[in-house]
Amino acid sequence: MTHERPAHRWIRWPNDPDRPRFGYGADYNPEQWPREVWEEDLRLMEEAGVTIVSLGIFSWARIQTGPDTWDFSWLDELMDRLHESGIAVDLATATTSPPPWLVTAHPEVLPVSHSGRTVWPGSRQHWRPTSPVFREHALRLTRALAERYGRHPALAAWHVSNELGCHNLYDYSDDAAAAFRAWLRRRYGDLDTLNEAWGTAFWSQHYTDWNQILPPRAAAFIPNPTQDLDFTRFSNDALLEHLRAERDLLRRITPEIPVTTNFMVNHHTRDLDYVRWAHEVDFVANDHYVRLDETGRDELSFSANLTSGLARGRPWFLMEHSTSAVNWKPVNLAKREGQLHRDSLLHLAHGADAVCFFQWRQSRAGAEKYHSAMVPHAGPDSRVFRDVVELGRLLREDLAEVAGSERLPARAAVVFDYQSWRAVERPSLPSEEIDYHREALEWYQTFLDLGIRADIVPVDGGWDEYDLVVAPLLHMVPGHLADRVNRYADRGGHLVTTYFSGTVDADDHVYLGGHPGAFRDLLGIRVEEFSPLPEGVAVPLDTGGSGDLWTEEATVTGRDVQTLARYGDGPLRGRPALTLRRIPGGGTASYTTTRLSARARRGFLLRITDEAGVGSELPEPLRGCVELAVRTAEGAEYWFLSNRTDEGVVLADLPGTPLTGTAGAHLPPDGVAVLRVERP
Ligand code: GAL
Repeated sequence: MTHERPAHRWIRWPNDPDRPRFGYGADYNPEQWPREVWEEDLRLMEEAGVTIVSLGIFSWARIQTGPDTWDFSWLDELMDRLHESGIAVDLATATTSPPPWLVTAHPEVLPVSHSGRTVWPGSRQHWRPTSPVFREHALRLTRALAERYGRHPALAAWHVSNELGCHNLYDYSDDAAAAFRAWLRRRYGDLDTLNEAWGTAFWSQHYTDWNQILPPRAAAFIPNPTQDLDFTRFSNDALLEHLRAERDLLRRITPEIPVTTNFMVNHHTRDLDYVRWAHEVDFVANDHYVRLDETGRDELSFSANLTSGLARGRPWFLMEHSTSAVNWKPVNLAKREGQLHRDSLLHLAHGADAVCFFQWRQSRAGAEKYHSAMVPHAGPDSRVFRDVVELGRLLREDLAEVAGSERLPARAAVVFDYQSWRAVERPSLPSEEIDYHREALEWYQTFLDLGIRADIVPVDGGWDEYDLVVAPLLHMVPGHLADRVNRYADRGGHLVTTYFSGTVDADDHVYLGGHPGAFRDLLGIRVEEFSPLPEGVAVPLDTGGSGDLWTEEATVTGRDVQTLARYGDGPLRGRPALTLRRIPGGGTASYTTTRLSARARRGFLLRITDEAGVGSELPEPLRGCVELAVRTAEGAEYWFLSNRTDEGVVLADLPGTPLTGTAGAHLPPDGVAVLRVERP
């Protein structure tokens, strides 16, 4: 099912609906401000070229003031005023943060932590995804909003809740326990099957009645890993069910209005399986907050690229990012000059057709008063607001024709697997130092360093069409996936995978007979033992560069397997670090038994890209310094060139004509240039 491209229905623009244009705007929280400020908001939005705002996200307490008392007057007025100003509304169902009256009357909606503590109100998102009481109230509010504003001309899309699972993904309450059991009954059918899947012969965990089963609450020692994994899957599904409940109600009342919810595709949201979520919304929306460190730019590119992968190359909506600092890190750095533009344009480069911020006006009070916004505390006479106005102009004028274009698939892909991500970062593994996201990002960075475009494609997506596929840490491999990987290589594809791949099935049971069980024959190697390395220890490779984190004692077992690099030192000296097997159909299957250093990975990928005939589209001097991302529409490609260095880069020998910046010109650090390249 997930192999199919998800359905796609873009926002319904109120005016001139067929004219492609970029969405530009923010979360708008006018309830934090007196009415006089609203007038200034509308004036400044017009100046900034705002086309859409997300309204009402945290407004439950303001809309429904008690169980049977409602105040829509302020929202009525704002919907009308925004429409008069030509601004579309992505209207929230407002269900993300239940009001005090509700949780006082129904404390049974409050989540319970791993150690059995109640998660009290006083912040936000304090509700159990499985609470029938919460669901009933949330749907009542959703219905009230849909019935009142469903025909309002400003309404362009529905915004279900907000960042589902940001704080309440894991709830260990009795409601959750009951729903978990029901979920397990659907998954396994009977207790024998569950006992087998969970390996309950171990530590006397055998179940004889469904009621004995609990969520993995804080226990004496390491929890049952399959129970733990199933609980992450269940928790994901519980939130998905909430999304579906609100969405289905909205679709019944307003079938013509698209529905979305904002994902959090980033380096720490591991346990939400957005591949499946992408099939439940009319268009994909994402929130992303850039890391202000040396990998931040590339991580942003990775996240935007993966979001495009979830959207299967179609336009998606950047629902939130920041104009400058956030407020939730120990130290919140301000963005450098130029970074606001760079971040926005990088998302655009990877297919975003709407660029929005959290939030429109910086709060005066509350937990986010030091979080940046489009209108900062300093007011419109500020660098941030001037940048915001300039970005609006760029989207409206210089880049207008790019709106609606799709991403041009690359020939290489990094395969991303949420299930393996969950499975390799658990207790009781050979090493707790494995970092799935970092590993995937590092392979992507090597492609960027070589100037070769690579798409990030979810494992359930269409990676089979790429000439070269890197599937790092592809650890959890159900039988159908093993077959698919084998077919890919048999048909001439070039596959690269890494240490600790092919190790377990979907129940987290180890494939026996030697690692990497699911890929042993395909790769033509056999590993008897994993030998993770202590932190800070690196082993040199005989071809240059090194490996750290992990090593494996591998033996070549297949014919046509070449050892490309060996360990140059230590107990595994002389053993394969990198292997390549040639497959009769012309494909190759490669494996690395360690986490390669940047140098070793670069050398290896150069070799493999060469095998696969996949090269850079950039002139030699730009490779590595500049990232190229390409969008395509009828008759044209749009080349986005983003400077990855701290120095200026001269753009020369490129095709096309500039839409922004100038070809042959100096691209400053953090600069992004866009070229239009005609295609017959
Ligand atoms: C998001 C959230 C917003 C705001 C923002 C701050 O997680 O959806 O409401 O809190 O972070 O960075």
